[in-house]
Amino acid sequence: ISYKGSVFLSKYLHGGIPGGLAHLDNLKNFQIRDDDVFIVTFPKSGTTWMQYIIYILFEDGHPELADNATWNVMPWLEYAKPDSKHPRGENSRLYCTHLPEHMAPQGLKDNKGKVIYVMRNPKDVLVSYVHFSNIFRTFDTVSNLDQILEDFLSGKVHGGSWFDHVKGWFERKDEYNILFVSYEEMKMDLRSVVRKVSEFVGKSLSDEDIDKVVDRVTFENMKTDSKANYDISAMDMVFDMSKGKFLRKGTIGDWKNSLTVAQSERFDQVYQERMQGLPLQFIWD
Ligand code: PPS
Repeated sequence: ISYKGSVFLSKYLHGGIPGGLAHLDNLKNFQIRDDDVFIVTFPKSGTTWMQYIIYILFEDGHPELADNATWNVMPWLEYAKPDSKHPRGENSRLYCTHLPEHMAPQGLKDNKGKVIYVMRNPKDVLVSYVHFSNIFRTFDTVSNLDQILEDFLSGKVHGGSWFDHVKGWFERKDEYNILFVSYEEMKMDLRSVVRKVSEFVGKSLSDEDIDKVVDRVTFENMKTDSKANYDISAMDMVFDMSKGKFLRKGTIGDWKNSLTVAQSERFDQVYQERMQGLPLQFIWD
């Protein structure tokens, strides 16, 4: 499935793509402001987690937006109506996207705005994706792990190729005002990540305020938050929560419980071919 095809597949989640696929082509011209913040991820890499951190940094205590779901305050760029107003108004517009680098608005490449790119070791991404497919009604339930492994390695999954996504953004990092954060780093030292992210988006927080943000976004606390889990009646058409939760395990290395040794070795082989020469180290367990 091409990236466009896979975006189209999930139209039910976000209520359709205004203007259809042409909108994606027009994103190049999307006007970027310096105080815009974009969270960019390959699916299942920690998007919702970073959304919560950003949401709390910008919206805590906002009387009108407090009851709003994160995804309403931080629209998906790929589904944003071309000329619509941002829900937060004109200042510090917050967006989220799974778009590959080559589809990014030109303004971002001109160093405008702020991009936070969250990445995760791809074996855990794959396993998280498999479980997500079981609860997301638009996707087929995964019954053949060998098949989904090959689909993932060749980029025939929602979001396209993980390798192209990470490489695309990383290799062009100098064109962007971009901060790279890994899911594993968030797991191992959430406090440092919250501090780093808050400084990057221009918020200076006291140690006490940092602690408050950290406490709100631990796995345990987000897992019991129905909005973080998309576990609200409006989402019944989208997710079948009787089959699992959106915030599932939230760990590093869960792939070891799913992939066989042979599958893991096959993954390693393609990983080495595709990521050769890229100075990126992932934490796998
Ligand atoms: S999506 O569908 O692309 O928006 O998914 P995404 O949010 O990128 O990734 C979902 C995985 O992130 C885990 N998650 C967390 N882990 C640790 N701590 C916190 N607070 C947290 N919030 C979300 C979530 O559980 C999914 O990973 P798995 O491995 O499936 O548990």
